[in-house]
Amino acid sequence: MERTLVLIKPDGIKRKLAGSVIQRFENKGLRICALKMLHVTKEMAEKHYAVHKDKPFFNDLVNYITSYPIMAMILEGRNAVSVVRNLCGATDGSKAAPGTIRGDYSNSIQENIVHASDSEDSYKYEMPIFFSKGEIQDLPQGDESLV
Ligand code: CMP
Repeated sequence: MERTLVLIKPDGIKRKLAGSVIQRFENKGLRICALKMLHVTKEMAEKHYAVHKDKPFFNDLVNYITSYPIMAMILEGRNAVSVVRNLCGATDGSKAAPGTIRGDYSNSIQENIVHASDSEDSYKYEMPIFFSKGEIQDLPQGDESLV
C-alpha cells in the first residue's frame, strides 16, 4: 500500500488546525502509520528542502519550518501520494481550490498549513529525515474497507 509523508507546519499547529487536517485525511480513508510532534532542526530542514536550495526563498523556508513545533505523519492508502496532494490543494493558498486544506485555511505560499511528498521518490527521501523504522506501524493489510 502506498505511503506518503505529511507535515503540519507551524501555522497549522499555532492555529490549532491539526485535528481538522488529520480528520480530512482519515475521512478520505487514509490510515496513520506514524505520527509525532517535533521541533525541526536546521540540519533536518536543509535536508528536507534541499531541492529548493538555489531558490530565493530557501532561507525563509528553513527559518519558518524551524520556528515552532510541527506535526509529522506517515499516511497510507491507495494512491496515497496523489490523494493527499489533492486534499492539500495548490501550494499557494490564494490559488488553492475551496474544499482543499489550503483552499479553506490559507491565503499564503509559505504559511500554507501542510507539506506533502510530491512523489513516491520524494517520500523515500523525506520520510527518514523524520522517522526511524521503529516509529512506523506496519498495519494489517486487507482491512482498509473498515474506513
Ligand atoms: P512545501 O510543500 O512545504 O514545499 C516547499 C515550500 O516552498 C512550499 O510548500 C511553499 O510553502 C514554499 N514556497 C514555494 N514557492 C514559494 C515562494 N515563491 N515564496 C516562498 N515560499 C514558497
